[in-house]
Order: sequence, then C-alpha cells, then structure tokens
Amino acid sequence: MDITIGVFDSGVGGFTVVRELKKLLPDQPLIYFGDTARTPYGTKGHKTLIQYAREDTRFLLGHGANLIVIACHSAASAATSALRQEFSVPIFEVVSPSVDQAIALTRRKVIGLIGTRATVTSGVYEDAIHSRLSGARVYSQACPLLVPLVEEGWLKARETRMIVKKYLRPLRDRQIDTLILGCTHYPLIKGIIQEKVGKRVKIVDASAEVARAVYSYIKAGVQVSKDAIGEDRFFVSDLTPATQGVARLFLGSQVQLEMASLGCKG
Ligand code: DGL
Repeated sequence: MDITIGVFDSGVGGFTVVRELKKLLPDQPLIYFGDTARTPYGTKGHKTLIQYAREDTRFLLGHGANLIVIACHSAASAATSALRQEFSVPIFEVVSPSVDQAIALTRRKVIGLIGTRATVTSGVYEDAIHSRLSGARVYSQACPLLVPLVEEGWLKARETRMIVKKYLRPLRDRQIDTLILGCTHYPLIKGIIQEKVGKRVKIVDASAEVARAVYSYIKAGVQVSKDAIGEDRFFVSDLTPATQGVARLFLGSQVQLEMASLGCKG
C-alpha cells in the first residue's frame, strides 16, 4: 500500500518533525496540518487537547493521509491513546521514540524533561520511563516562555539564554545525564540548551526520533510507487504574514501554506 504521511501540530512547530521526515523520506507524500487558529496547545487542558487532536486527525485522513504523526508533544501527551482507539491507521507520536532513546542513552538513570505545561503536567513521559526503567529518576520542567521566544526568532538572544539558564538550573542541580526536548520548538535552540544544561548531558531531539520510527516502519513494509509521489501540502487553520515567516524559520526554506478550516476540504 502507498503511504501518505499526515502530520499535525498546534501550529508550525511541527515543521521540525517535517524537516527530519524529509531528510529520511524525501519522496514520501506528506500532508501537514497546523492548527494556527487555536494555537498554543501547551496551555490547554486534557479534554480540549483530545478534541483538537481528533479533529486534526480527521482533517488529515479526509485529505488522503493513511499514517498519522502527532508532532505536537502537548497533543501527543493527552491524546495518543484516544486516537489509537478511534482510528485504525498507524499513529506515530513524539513521546515513545524519545523515551526509547533517553533510556538507551542514560547511564545513571537520571533523566530530565522540558516541555509545555500541558506536556509536563500530563506525567506521560515519567510514566513511560518508570514503567520501562526501574530505579529511574525523572525531573520535569515546564518552560512556557520558550515557545514565544523561538517564534519571535530570538534564537540567540541574550534574553533567551538567560531564560533557558533559569529553567534548566533545577535540572542541572539534580545532575541529570540525559535531557528530552519535549516540545516542537526546542530543537531550534538546542545549542543554547546544551550549553546551559552542561555539555556532558545527552540531548534527545524528539523530532529526529519520531522521524526515524516512521522511516523504519515505511522501509520495513511498504514500497512507495512512483505514482504515489505527489506534491506535499501544508495547511494551517489561520494564515497571516507572521505565520508564513515562522514557518520559514522552522523549515529552513520557503513553503506554500494553504488556509483550511477544519471540517472543510481544501
Ligand atoms: N507544539 C507544541 C508542543 O510541542 C508547542 C506549541 C504550543 O504550545 O502549541 O507541545
């Protein structure tokens, strides 16, 4: 069967996942939905996130996707099980592959997690790590200021460095040896995060990990026929010039964004 990958996120942060997917699977057809009209997801509650994730998934399936990637950690933390129960297509998400990688990398079983409030309060990462690695200690830190700083393009600003340092201090004090970047936006400031958490700490980039998981799945079982190679499409639920600029920042190149409202075919 030919696979069309459907990726959804709260906005354009999921382009960090698209970027990694395109490195590994450049010809695989891909449809993206960024819910820019309702972003951010990181401040939303559990039920709302499940509802949004369900609508985002339906949108992608309605546009021909038959494999879903939840690029948004906040959505993945709340809605993965609900989506797997409701939809029969394969559903990949950012949490499990990063937990696998953190477990493989940690030496002293002291793992840190940074993410949005929704992701951190869900406890999903802690539960997954504890159930698989006995004696592990997991320290989590919500970093709500980092998403707007990245979207402003303040990737190297002094203010960003100060804020990252402040957020990471408690994790540094706990002497974590591995840190999971549990948010779409953090790969863009990975260098600062590495510097502030300490250069010996191993960093897990969830965007790269989920792309590897999708790659293994597709390469293991499915051949892409030439006919299946189509134009990738990138939909957002609200489109402003600022959205276009942030998309370019994340993807590293210009991309044609299409406006689409949920429930309507674009
Ligand atoms: N995409 C979100 C995440 O990875 C970050 C942005 C937001 O809060 O919507 O959790």
